[in-house]
Amino acid sequence: MSTPHIAASPGQFAQTVLMPGDPLRARHIAQTLLDGAEEITAVRSMCGFTGHWKGHRVSVMGSGMGIPSASIYATELIREYGVKRIVRIGTCGAVADSLSLGDLVLAAGACTDSGVNRTRFRGMDFAAIADFDLLQCLVAQAKRDEQRLAVGNVFSADLFYSPDTQLVDTLARMNVLGIEMEAAGLYGLAAEFGAQAVAVLAVSDHLRRAESWPSSQRQLGLDAMVRLVLDGLLSGGFLGSTKNPDG
Ligand code: HPA
Repeated sequence: MSTPHIAASPGQFAQTVLMPGDPLRARHIAQTLLDGAEEITAVRSMCGFTGHWKGHRVSVMGSGMGIPSASIYATELIREYGVKRIVRIGTCGAVADSLSLGDLVLAAGACTDSGVNRTRFRGMDFAAIADFDLLQCLVAQAKRDEQRLAVGNVFSADLFYSPDTQLVDTLARMNVLGIEMEAAGLYGLAAEFGAQAVAVLAVSDHLRRAESWPSSQRQLGLDAMVRLVLDGLLSGGFLGSTKNPDG
């Protein structure tokens, strides 16, 4: 079996898939953090891998940038490969003054200027929310790791280069934490297909203070975030065990 955009065989994906935007980050995570990772798809260079974290099976695959790209891969993973949960791991531009570079943002909800959830919801406003159990286990792990964390709304933008000069101020007024480009679409499709989803975002730049992570720190910060996410999922019982490979 394969889908238009994924060439893996049935059963090659674990039931939990981490999705960074960048396929090379997926490869980096598979090669440096997971044990025994195997590449299982690379259509259009959007590579995906399955390996083990502390003995527990997990997959990682790139989503590309933006809701349309991420929706293609996430839909095919859930509908055709039986994936039960998707954890977006990415970066966001901070809007909230309280956030610093390297802080984690857990997107409990995702606002958007994209029309995808209105298309799904007969023109009405769908409240795009993260799965509560996933949120809870990641909050608990961040506390154990003493990692600075904010939980709240993000904004999933269609345009990285927005012509709207008031956007960031409006988001700040509404206490939106930061801007990224995928979570609202991922939450909408997870609701549609009965899967679990959450987006975990490292603050890579601050949009009101013109600060940004140097690339050396970016890699280290993202690796630390992925370890936290994997430990959180493991302790929440979301990774496959030897007894139950696809738990
Ligand atoms: N906009 C959208 N997505 C992002 C940003 C941003 O400023 N920073 C990191 N991801």
